[in-house]
Amino acid sequence: MTSGHLQIVVCGAGPAADAAKLVTAAQEQNWTAAVTATPNATSFIDLAAIEELTGVPVRSTYQASPGARRSLPAADALVIAPATYNSINKIALGLADNYAMTSVAELIGRHVPTVVVPFVNAALATRLPFRRAVATLRNEGVHVLLGPEDEWEPHPPGSGNDRQRVFPWGTAFGIAAGRAYDART
Ligand SMILES: Cc1cc2nc3c(=O)[nH]c(=O)nc-3n(C[C@H](O)[C@H](O)[C@H](O)COP(=O)(O)O)c2cc1C
Repeated sequence: MTSGHLQIVVCGAGPAADAAKLVTAAQEQNWTAAVTATPNATSFIDLAAIEELTGVPVRSTYQASPGARRSLPAADALVIAPATYNSINKIALGLADNYAMTSVAELIGRHVPTVVVPFVNAALATRLPFRRAVATLRNEGVHVLLGPEDEWEPHPPGSGNDRQRVFPWGTAFGIAAGRAYDART
């Protein structure tokens, strides 16, 4: 018996290439994991490697693979990482213009414990729409891993490659698993 099922939503930013680290972090704690990608994220990730690791297809469209269920699977926690400026703003507004955004909208609505890990540079992070989006999501009970308490800050424009190496995959899973545990007890 597994400890839980983690739904991962990957957006189109550099750390998407390392999403296997989150799958591994979950599996090491006896969780299962599945990955959904935004259409833009599919060019950043190694789909075959993720599918081999999770044992299930990476979903990015409404088209389910043969034999797979069409409805949203039950999830004990949701981690959106890396979360782009674009997708964070959309999620806060409730937009559902692709499969990944639709699934996020519904899982948050089902009160599935959710962690968002932005990968956004400091110029974008100062924009009022982004700051409003972070506040809106926190107000809805979503953990947006950002700021001094989380030790994860927006990076200076042009420094994304260095920051990608220290992307907090393990921290994100730890928070998600803790919230899932709290939700069960
Ligand atoms: C090479 C490359 C790197 C990118 N890095 C980032 C990034 O670090 N953060 C971000 O918010 N957007 C980044 N973008 C822009 C997003 O991919 C773009 O906003 C896209 O519309 C996001 O789509 P999604 O949110 O549906 O995944 C990058 C784009 C490219 C081509």
